[in-house]
Amino acid sequence: MEDLELNELYEEALKAIDEVDSIEKVNEVRNDYLSKKSKFMGLMSKMKELSIEGKKVFGEAINKAKDEITRKLEEKRAMLEKRMLDEKLKREEIDVTLPGINYDAGGKNPFYIIQDEMIDIFLGMGYEIAEGPEVELDHFNFELLNIPKDHPARDMQDTFYIDDNTLMRTHTSPVQARVMQEKQGKPIKIICPGKVYRRDDDDATHSHQFGQIEGLVVDKNITLSNLKATLELFIKKMYGEKREIRLRSSYFPFTEPSVEVDVSCDCGGKGTCSKCKGTGWIEILGGGMVHPNVLSMSGYDPKEYQGFAFGVGIERVAMLRYGVDDIRRFYQNDVRFLNQFKRK
Ligand code: PHE
Repeated sequence: MEDLELNELYEEALKAIDEVDSIEKVNEVRNDYLSKKSKFMGLMSKMKELSIEGKKVFGEAINKAKDEITRKLEEKRAMLEKRMLDEKLKREEIDVTLPGINYDAGGKNPFYIIQDEMIDIFLGMGYEIAEGPEVELDHFNFELLNIPKDHPARDMQDTFYIDDNTLMRTHTSPVQARVMQEKQGKPIKIICPGKVYRRDDDDATHSHQFGQIEGLVVDKNITLSNLKATLELFIKKMYGEKREIRLRSSYFPFTEPSVEVDVSCDCGGKGTCSKCKGTGWIEILGGGMVHPNVLSMSGYDPKEYQGFAFGVGIERVAMLRYGVDDIRRFYQNDVRFLNQFKRK
């Protein structure tokens, strides 16, 4: 039986399928023509007007049309899925001949390169590493180092105060007192690397925060020669065999005698050198023999024990080694500066 309405609907469905260009549309068309509320179901109401024979023929025709639409829709769905997959594969295709992406691995800040080298040298001499807090008590930072309240030496080490008795440590020397109290009269051979703070002017050689390495040796029969030999070895390992050191007398409340240590400049003392300002010597650290008061305040009998101590500025050592002109470069994170120290 030819039914005009059925034919029309069938043609309409084929056209709709033809225009489908996405999986969503496939589902829409299926809904429009094949679901319970679809247009084909609407045709079913005609059935009751037909004879038994007519019903059979019309029913078959509808089923045939629906089967055909289902088949064509599935064909379309398969085609669309294949197309999507092809496009995806094409998008994700890997060209193994393309050069790889080179991820830049960072490098160590020169401050830490030098700090590690310094630590290595002292570990090689048998020193152990000690630590102390950066937020320190006045008691350890000053009192136990023979710097009582109102001592003029405090002026040179003004710092950031947390309260009347607590401050950002001005040097790593408080670790001397802490270790002596911990070791309770036993021999000591330690270094302490760490950050220290001062209320300093912001210029090319000063920073409100910088690094120091403290050294402390306490035992029987320790003399100034031991300090000199230790520092000489350190300097030669750091800057090469040709370097010499020079001890000048100085003053620190916690050492007696106290020395300021200079290292010979690689210019050989020429008048034009900017590093040593033509003097041939560059000041590098402070040190001395541990003051008897400092020993006794932390539980050592100065008649039996002696000690030497020193404090080296880490940036100072790095500036001299690399010829860096401004201490602030270590903290500015300028890659043009930092890249120069990267290990190849
Ligand atoms: N603490 C001193 C400073 O920061 C350096 C020093 C350390 C001097 C140990 C003597 C002994 O200036």
